[in-house]
Amino acid sequence: MKYRKLGNSELYVSEISLGSWGINEGVEDNNAKACIYKALELGINFIDTSNSYAAGAAESFLGDVLQGIDRSSYLLGTKVFFPTSPTDKGLSAPQIRKQIDASLTRLRTDYVDLYQCHRYDPETPLEETMMALTEVVRQGKARYIGFSEWTPAQIQSACELTGVEHFVSSQPQYSMLWRDPEAEVFPLCQANSISQIVWSPLAQGVLTGKYQAGNVPPPNSRAANEKMNWYLLDNLFSDRILTAVEKLKPIAQGLGLSMAQLALAWVLQSEYVSSAIIGASRPKQIVDNVAASDISLPTDVLKAIDQVLISVVHT
Ligand SMILES: NC(=O)c1ccc[n+]([C@@H]2O[C@H](COP(=O)([O-])OP(=O)(O)OC[C@H]3O[C@@H](n4cnc5c(N)ncnc54)[C@H](OP(=O)(O)O)[C@@H]3O)[C@@H](O)[C@H]2O)c1
Repeated sequence: MKYRKLGNSELYVSEISLGSWGINEGVEDNNAKACIYKALELGINFIDTSNSYAAGAAESFLGDVLQGIDRSSYLLGTKVFFPTSPTDKGLSAPQIRKQIDASLTRLRTDYVDLYQCHRYDPETPLEETMMALTEVVRQGKARYIGFSEWTPAQIQSACELTGVEHFVSSQPQYSMLWRDPEAEVFPLCQANSISQIVWSPLAQGVLTGKYQAGNVPPPNSRAANEKMNWYLLDNLFSDRILTAVEKLKPIAQGLGLSMAQLALAWVLQSEYVSSAIIGASRPKQIVDNVAASDISLPTDVLKAIDQVLISVVHT
């Protein structure tokens, strides 16, 4: 496993990191636990979660599983914004103060390495949010701060504020199929020493080649999981996309890579990306995926991928 610096921080994150969205949402507990252990064993050092995943249950699960493991041997990132009750939501100062404490309690730790705004909160002045995040860092409850899916204008405004902690990470959706942040977010962040830690780098499983156009999704797959398939089916799952992805198979085979490895290696070709945050429903997927670290894809392969996907890429 290779590690990359995270923005203007002292953190080095594994090129492949582990998400926790599936915990309590269809990924069976024993598998979720085995995935965490396998990830740590294979050099993954960054685990991403949120106070909103499974209404806090993902954080509690991680808190239990990670007990007894040297806290300095891994990095933990969580997030705040989405509702955790009818009255608890957003990025106001009282919410940030309340939510960080609740996250730390569930995670059974004194600090997180990265505290991320899950989205931008248009109902709270940006200054209030940034001051509250600064307080969290200065109290030692988070080492660094980040954001997920903010617009360039929102990012720019945050970078211009003085007297506050600054973001070190951006968490956008990014994959061979979803290239939206390339045009503006990536260069803007780089100019402000902010790295990308990207979500759904496998397009939620579509890029692993497990789905075929016109066929029913295999049982035990994300697309068949009614708790988690809503985003996938709405955004990444059409016969056009699946037909195009099928054409990547000879490219992966020619390189001796699995489809998942090709997709993750592609994401990691970007100089802006520090880590690809994968999901996994069973440990053998972790074994497959970590092998993508340190794979270099030749220019002609990158061109061939673009030709195959040109009509279905989201920008
Ligand atoms: N910031 C945000 O708004 C946001 C949004 C979404 C996610 N995230 C974060 O990003 C993390 C990753 O997202 P994601 O789970 O959508 O990412 P992903 O890596 O694109 O998809 C993961 C899913 O693909 C399948 N898979 C993974 N490796 C495989 C392999 N080698 N072979 C076959 N299938 C494989 C598994 O599903 P099945 O086995 O069930 O098919 C797995 O759960 C989340 O856990 C969360 O921490 C953040």
